[in-house]
Amino acid sequence: MLELNDPSLLKQAALVNGEWLAPGADAIQVINPADGSVVGKVPACGASETSAAIAAAKAAWPEWRARTAHERAVLVERWHALVIENLADLARIMTAEQGKPLAEAEGEIRYAASFIKWFAEEGRRVGGRNVASPERDRRILVMVEPVGVAAAITPWNFPAAMITRKCAPALAAGCPVVIKPSEFTPFCALALAELALRAGIPAGLIHVLTGMPHEIGETITSSPDVRKVSFTGSTRVGSLLMRQCADTIKRLSLELGGNAPLIVFEDADLDIAVKSAMASKFRNAGQTCVCANRIFVHAAVEQEFLARLGAQVSALNAAPGFAPGSTIGPLINQAAVDKVAAHLADALDKGGRVVAEGQGREDGQFVRPVIVAGATSKMRLASEETFGPLAPVFRFESEDEAIAMANDTPFGLASYFYTRDLARAFRVAERLEAGMVALNTGSMAMEMAPFGGIKQSGLGREGGTQGIEEYLETKAFHIGGLEL
Ligand code: SIN
Repeated sequence: MLELNDPSLLKQAALVNGEWLAPGADAIQVINPADGSVVGKVPACGASETSAAIAAAKAAWPEWRARTAHERAVLVERWHALVIENLADLARIMTAEQGKPLAEAEGEIRYAASFIKWFAEEGRRVGGRNVASPERDRRILVMVEPVGVAAAITPWNFPAAMITRKCAPALAAGCPVVIKPSEFTPFCALALAELALRAGIPAGLIHVLTGMPHEIGETITSSPDVRKVSFTGSTRVGSLLMRQCADTIKRLSLELGGNAPLIVFEDADLDIAVKSAMASKFRNAGQTCVCANRIFVHAAVEQEFLARLGAQVSALNAAPGFAPGSTIGPLINQAAVDKVAAHLADALDKGGRVVAEGQGREDGQFVRPVIVAGATSKMRLASEETFGPLAPVFRFESEDEAIAMANDTPFGLASYFYTRDLARAFRVAERLEAGMVALNTGSMAMEMAPFGGIKQSGLGREGGTQGIEEYLETKAFHIGGLEL
């Protein structure tokens, strides 16, 4: 049994219009990936619950949009305060359902809370423009208005941050939200929604539909009352949602798959490069869309880089997220474990060599981190997202070669590179095909910076000043016949 300071935060229910719907005979079990135990059960919502949530959101919208940005921001800020107050419980819920080490889960709750605070503040700064008029008796105002009912379809790898990165800007902008969290990790979403209600956000404004994605997703995408869909997940599902949203011409934000390159040039500060590679590759056991999926190292520093990275990887410890000293939690399910094993076997078959391995468990859904040197473009790990703790190292000889290899992918989410040469820094940053480029750092996820990709990595941006614009429409207001 999960021990919480406030056990009422573990909601075994779906949330529609302020009512907690109990699970029925077809309940979905949420499994702890560390030991296969049942964390709890949630209802298998379908079309009727989804339609009820959309209808309640639509009904609640006029009153919410009529409030001032300041009034909305006060409630969103209260939500932020409650999330921080309940950080310990939220993190424990996350570790139980998602598996990540408790310290990392606490970090994610802080990260999730940062979006709530940021967008409460950004909501106050939403404003339009006054455009120079071509006529003396006319004025033109560019006004911005909330888009309407928004749907947030969120993944299991960041069960709290992906909820707040979508819902906080929606609410602050004046939109109700219908959330469909991953069926693997609904409890963080439900706890966050409970805290939003406790903060005073009206019941019609936030709904959580638990269950399998198919029916809920189809009801959301086909509804003319849902004006915006924001999705984080795979490119395959993103493209399906895009097709499903076409008939009702919805606004879409898609944060999809990546295949991030991390390039270490010969003049790099290797301490920074190694620290960054560790942070980027092994965060959340390698289960992030911005994880370094391919590490390119200049031949002149390859041996030194491998030795230093190897020393750090050997200290990683695959263990249950609640165990002291755990740095790599279990993967989310058996399919994830199988994919890493298949990528490793394929790489070894095609000439790759294991040069370092972490410690800890290798049973169940635990996978020890591993570095494979001698990686080539023929290996599956070069073109597919591994989404696990396998770090392949490719060798290169020139800047042009590194950039060509880095861009040789249909994805364009994150990329990382390491150099001390200023001219090279600009050359490479401008040539890398990605929505986010990091120089001499391994982190790029923060509330004040726009997050998102190009090519098949998606559409739109979350976070930053751009994140709230995804929930706003532009209206041109022409005022003629003015006797000035
Ligand atoms: C993701 O992997 O989907 C998001 C990662 C992040 O916010 O850093």
